[in-house]
Amino acid sequence: MNISVIGTGYVGLVTGACFAEFGIHVTCVDKDAAKIARLEAGEIPIFEPGLEEIVRRNVQAGLLSFTTDAQRAVQHSLVIFIAVPTPPSPDGSTDLSYVDEVARTIGSHLDGYKVVVTKSTVPVKTAERVRRIIDESARAAGREGVLCSVASNPEFLREGSAVEDFLRPDRVVIGAEDPQAIAILRDLYKPLNLIEVPFVITNVATAELIKYASNAFLATKISFINEVSALCEAVGADVHDVSRAMGLDGRIGRKFLHPGPGYGGSCFPKDTLSLVQFSREFGVEQRIVSATVAANDAQRARMIAKVEEMLGSLSGKTLGVLGLSFKPNTDDVRESPAIWISQELKRRGAHLRCFDPQAMDNAARELEGAVFCEDPYDTAKGCDALLFLTEWNQFRKLDLALLKERLRQPVIVDMRNICEPDEMRRMGFRYTGVGR
Ligand code: UDX
Repeated sequence: MNISVIGTGYVGLVTGACFAEFGIHVTCVDKDAAKIARLEAGEIPIFEPGLEEIVRRNVQAGLLSFTTDAQRAVQHSLVIFIAVPTPPSPDGSTDLSYVDEVARTIGSHLDGYKVVVTKSTVPVKTAERVRRIIDESARAAGREGVLCSVASNPEFLREGSAVEDFLRPDRVVIGAEDPQAIAILRDLYKPLNLIEVPFVITNVATAELIKYASNAFLATKISFINEVSALCEAVGADVHDVSRAMGLDGRIGRKFLHPGPGYGGSCFPKDTLSLVQFSREFGVEQRIVSATVAANDAQRARMIAKVEEMLGSLSGKTLGVLGLSFKPNTDDVRESPAIWISQELKRRGAHLRCFDPQAMDNAARELEGAVFCEDPYDTAKGCDALLFLTEWNQFRKLDLALLKERLRQPVIVDMRNICEPDEMRRMGFRYTGVGR
């Protein structure tokens, strides 16, 4: 079977490469000629474990190719995945202009039955909108009456383990009304039957909503434990013990109950706001998700207060920032709490010395005037406090005595609870973490 994936961003590239890994002929399409040229030369624009290898292997095997020619890709494919960005608009709603543009392109080149699948996270009812645009543009191109199904197949990929998540997912969700489209999509994912991956086959609106409900629920777990962490600080409780004991209840589960400076990344902040926004358009209030968003904002602000509690006024202070990406094992700084917090500290007059194992190039664009350092020890030089903002594994095994020597004041604000509070205090640090 020939398929194409339009959009070679994070989701599109992983989807295309992994379908090729299933033995399907995949054409990845992007209108950015420079990006396609780089991909053709074997350069992978994102840092994602395992991706480079499967791209290389499948290009060599003739299963994966890259092009800017959308017409050819559409006409050669039975299934077309839309995986273009759906960025937030300033009011929190989703900007669908890229999706619309792809739908127009598909409609104008339709030459036979196709299944068009939205893979990007799009608000409920977007598939209907895609259907309408395809019909209009097919009509305008004189291709009226050519059959086409629109389906939803949301992705649940985590950055840093996207390839693994695609090849071994917890579930595959397919939303479609047309039995032929369902059969074709099931067939695409056939290799997953071997590992008994559950399939949820449902209508389009349900599939679209499943993605939002899942991400909003995970974000809510994080905001929940973050608010509990504030209470732990107030009453002298240990949030790690609370979270572990809660998680041992099988109905709650242990995952996503780790406190920190708030969730970030390209999905949770955007998807929670979008869910609240489009629910209102249907006359429904999402009170819990609204509170999740507010609690996340408050948690970030609380981190600033922690630094001020340790140092007083930040004006003229030098702060060492360890970790800039929104989570470890990625160079992605989109909606990273580390960036928001660093910018806020700068606004309050602090000088920043920063280090991140992968994300310094991306962070440099957001943190003008900050000094980017060689390693954590270089970062600590002359600082009034050292802040842990992302839980990179390498930060767990630092030489604490050497760090202390480098610091002007032995102050640590550990926003990811990387260190052991008792050990830090024993070593003479003034230490604060989150919720303990
Ligand atoms: C998320 C979803 O997990 C994935 O299913 C979806 O497709 C895209 O969004 P991702 O954004 O890659 O994936 O990151 P994830 O690992 O979920 O972490 C998101 C944010 O939550 C990070 O900033 C992380 O630090 C934070 N987080 C996560 C916590 O603060 N505590 C936790 O317990 C878990």
